[in-house]
Amino acid sequence: MRKLAVIGANEFQAPLIQKAKEMGFETHAFAWAAGDVGEKLADRFHPISITEKEAIWQVCKAEGVEGCCSIGSDLAVHTVNYVQRKLGIPCNPEITDTIATDKYEMRRALAAAGVACPRFMKVSAPPAEEELANMTWPLIVKPTDRSGSRGIFQVSDYPSLCAAIPQAAAQSFHREAIIEEVLTGPEYSCESVSFAGEHHILALTKKYTTGAPHFIETGHDEPSDIPAALIPAIHADIKKALDALSVRYGASHAEFRLGPDGRARIIEIGARMGGDCIGSDLVYLSTGVDYMAAVIDVALGHAPDLAPKRAPHAAAVRFIFTRDDAEKLERIKRDAPEALWRCSYDGHPDGGVTDSASRHGWWITLGERL
Ligand SMILES: Nc1ncnc2c1ncn2[C@@H]1O[C@H](COP(=O)(O)OP(=O)(O)OP(=O)(O)O)[C@@H](O)[C@H]1O
Ligand SMILES: [Mg+2]
Repeated sequence: MRKLAVIGANEFQAPLIQKAKEMGFETHAFAWAAGDVGEKLADRFHPISITEKEAIWQVCKAEGVEGCCSIGSDLAVHTVNYVQRKLGIPCNPEITDTIATDKYEMRRALAAAGVACPRFMKVSAPPAEEELANMTWPLIVKPTDRSGSRGIFQVSDYPSLCAAIPQAAAQSFHREAIIEEVLTGPEYSCESVSFAGEHHILALTKKYTTGAPHFIETGHDEPSDIPAALIPAIHADIKKALDALSVRYGASHAEFRLGPDGRARIIEIGARMGGDCIGSDLVYLSTGVDYMAAVIDVALGHAPDLAPKRAPHAAAVRFIFTRDDAEKLERIKRDAPEALWRCSYDGHPDGGVTDSASRHGWWITLGERL
C-alpha cells in the first residue's frame, strides 16, 4: 500500500490524514503523543515531536513513505521540506523554510524584492527612543518566529512599547521580537498552491479578528467581499510576494490588508495552507477545488489537480470565545442544521482567550451557491 507522512495530529491536521486515507494511502502521522484526534485516525501514529526532522526522516525511510505534507503549521514546514528533499521530491528551497517562518527575515526578503512594506526593526530588548525616530506610531510588536497570535501587541507610546517587547520576545523561540509600523485597511488572506514556480490562486478569504491590541482571529469568510475589479492587481501583488520568498511548490497562505489604493499590503505569508479550517474546509467548499488533495499531489511530485469537485458555496468559520458564541452554535444546530458543515467545541466557554490556541471551538457554515 502507498504510504504518506503527515506532520502533526491535532484537530486541524486530522482532515489531511482523513483525505490521504480516502485517496488510498496508508497514513503515518508524527507528533508528540497528546491524545489528539489524528493519533487514532492515522493508520500508524509515531510519537515523535514534529521538530525532530531527522528522526522523522529515519522512520519515513524505513517505512518507504512516498511523500510528506502538513496543513497550517509553520513549525512543520521545516520537517516537511526536510523529508521531501531527502525523498528527492521538488519542494521550496531551504531559504524559503527560513524566511517564511521568521517575520523579520520575511520583511527583509519582501523589502529587497520591492514589495511595499511598513518600516520594521528586530529587537531583543527595548531600543532607545531615538532609534524609533523615523517610525510612525502606533507600532506593532510581535515575536519573530511564532504564530497563532501569540505575543502580539499594538502600542501607542514608548513606555507601552518597552513593556511589550519582553513579553513578545519571551514567546519567541529565539527570544527576538519585530517592531513594525501598522498597516491599515480590512484584513484578508490569499490561498494558493504552487507547482514548478507557477502560483495557482484559489481563493481570497475575509478575516475577522478581535482587533487591537492582540488581533486574535474570530472568523473567516470565503469568498471575500473584495470587489472583482480589484482582484487582478491583488493577485499580482501576492504572486510578486510569493516570488520574493522563493515559494515554488505547495500551499501558501498570504495574509494582507487592503490598502486605500486597492493593493495588497502583506502582513505575512506562510509557505503552507492556512490553518483555522481555511485550508482543510473553506477553500474546498467555496471553490470546489480539493485543496488538500492538490497539496498531496504536489507532495508526491505531481502537478496539482485543480478541477472543481463540487459546486461552490459561500463558506464561513467562526470561533468560540464566549458563552454567547457557544449559544449561537447551539441555535444553528437547532434552527439551521442543514447549514452546519462541521463544528468542534470544548464545552468551556469561560472567556480567557489569549491566543488562537485558547479559543474554545469553532463551527463552519455553508451559505448560498456561488
Ligand atoms: N504591521 C501590522 N499592521 C497591522 N496589523 C498587523 C500588523 N502585524 C500584525 N497585525 C495584526 O496582527 C495579526 C497577527 O499578526 P501575524 O499574522 O503577524 O501573527 P501570527 O501570530 O502569525 O498570527 P496568526 O497565526 O494568527 O496569523 C494580523 O492578522 C493583523 O491583524
Ligand atoms: Mg498571521
